[in-house]
Amino acid sequence: MNWCIVRQPNGLYARYSDAVGDFTCFNKTREEATNLCLSYRDGTGATLTPEVVQTMLDGADQCGLEGWQVQVDNVRKRKGAERAGDAARIGAVPPSPPELRVVEPDRHIAIRRILMPRDQNHHGVVFGGALLAEIDLAGAVEARQHTRHDVVTRFMNGIEFKQPVSIGDVVTFYTTLVKIGNTSITVKVEIEASRNGEEAPVAVTCTEIVYVTVQKNAEGNLQKVPVRG
Ligand SMILES: CC(C)(COP(=O)(O)OP(=O)(O)OC[C@H]1O[C@@H](n2cnc3c(N)ncnc32)[C@H](O)[C@@H]1OP(=O)(O)O)[C@@H](O)C(=O)NCCC(=O)NCCS
Repeated sequence: MNWCIVRQPNGLYARYSDAVGDFTCFNKTREEATNLCLSYRDGTGATLTPEVVQTMLDGADQCGLEGWQVQVDNVRKRKGAERAGDAARIGAVPPSPPELRVVEPDRHIAIRRILMPRDQNHHGVVFGGALLAEIDLAGAVEARQHTRHDVVTRFMNGIEFKQPVSIGDVVTFYTTLVKIGNTSITVKVEIEASRNGEEAPVAVTCTEIVYVTVQKNAEGNLQKVPVRG
C-alpha cells in the first residue's frame, strides 16, 4: 500500500492513499501535514524522520501536473468517473514524485500515553473501561482522517483483554483503516503496553469499530450522512 502527500491550489495539503483509492485528509496546513506524516510508519515499521517528512512536503510543492493526472486516473479506475470528478473538484494538485513515496504502514499511532493512578481499579491494575474509552477515541481519530463529518460509534467488536496493564506502562493505540462504506468507516484498533524494564511491548487487545458519519437534522437529531458527502 502506498500513500503520498499532495498540494492543493490553496496551498494546503491532502493525502492520496492507494489503500483507500482516493484523496483523504484534506486542507492540512504544513504543520498539520507534518504531524500527520510523522504519525505513520514506513515499510520497515520505523516512524518517518522529520527530514524525510520535510522532503516529502517539498516534493509535493514541486510536482508537475503529470503526476496529478496519474492519481486522478487511479481514482477513476477504482471508483468511477464521478469520484474522479470529486477529486478534481477539491483541486488537489500534483502528488509527490514516485521516489518520494513511502510504503503505507498497516497501522499507525493514534494515541500514546502513560497510564496514571486515576486509571486504576481497586486491584491496582488499569480499569478496562478506561482503556475502552481510549480505544474509542483512537478509532475516532483515525475515522476523522477520512471524512469532513462528525462520527459516532455504531458497533464495536467483542473485546478481550489478554494482558493486564499497570500504572506507569506506556500504552500505544495503533489504528488501521479497514473499510470505507457508504455511511460507515471501519477501523481496527490495537493496544500494546510497554512495561518498565521490558524490551518488547505486550499485545493487550485488538478490536474493530464501526463509526457512522452524522450531522444534525432540523429537529436537532443525529442523522447518518455519506462519508464523502
Ligand atoms: C448512527 C445512527 C444515526 C445510524 O443510524 P442507523 O439507521 O442505525 O444506521 P444503519 O443501521 O443503516 O447503519 C449505518 C452504517 O453502519 C453499519 N453498521 C450498522 N450496524 C453494524 C454492525 N453491527 N456491524 C457492522 N456495521 C454496522 C451499516 O452497515 C451502515 O454502513 P454503510 O452505510 O457504510 O453501509 C444511529 O444508529 C445512532 O444514532 N446510534 C447511536 C450512536 C451513538 O450515540 N454512539 C455512541 C454510544 S452511545
